[in-house]
Amino acid sequence: MITIALTKGRIEKDTVKILAEAGFDMSFMADKGRNLIFFDKAQDLRFLLVKAPDVATYVEHGIADLGVVGSDVLYEHPGSYLEMLDLNIGLCKFAVASIPSYDPLDHKRKKIATKYPNIATDYFRSKDEDVEIVSIQGSVEIAPVIGLTDAIVDIVETGNTLVANGLVEFEDIIRVSSRLIANSASIKKNPEIMTLIGRLEAVVGNEEV
Ligand code: PRP
Ligand code: MG
Repeated sequence: MITIALTKGRIEKDTVKILAEAGFDMSFMADKGRNLIFFDKAQDLRFLLVKAPDVATYVEHGIADLGVVGSDVLYEHPGSYLEMLDLNIGLCKFAVASIPSYDPLDHKRKKIATKYPNIATDYFRSKDEDVEIVSIQGSVEIAPVIGLTDAIVDIVETGNTLVANGLVEFEDIIRVSSRLIANSASIKKNPEIMTLIGRLEAVVGNEEV
């Protein structure tokens, strides 16, 4: 049996669409209720529905042979899995944003709120800038508005959350998209996994990662 870990939530629908187009039986998704494990019995596949960072964990530990997860999570939690395909869904980006009066060129040591401390630290380090990172679990956009930090590093998809909170985008950091990752031992052990990856590749086009 081949196990595929899928990310619960935002990218679920688009992921399931790609898997169905690749010929997997995803009919269970229509009526899944609170279930978190599903099967395509005919093709001997098992699907796990888990939180994004846990997709990488299941794949790293070889519990899942394959996983679908956003590159935001992969950048933030690097690990020992292989990135096989860019699925071109869940498209968004990381950006630096703040209130309109923010000055990115200000030389003072800035405070930055983010759910992604590694990405934020790496970005400012790449600009030779030492910042103070304040880790926030969500709703990061309010941090500069209420004076917790000078700016935020967060994901921007439509930009609606920024606009709704009166924030402006100052710097683009990196594109984000969902990726297919694989456990390296699984790939060596089971040639059928490469066949599955090939089926997905045929659906999404050959996106070099
Ligand atoms: C994400 C992200 C941004 C927003 C971007 O937050 O952190 O806040 O979505 O989307 P937009 O550009 O289309 O508005 P999410 O809704 O996942 O909530 P959280 O940050 O509170 O976890
Ligand atoms: Mg948010």
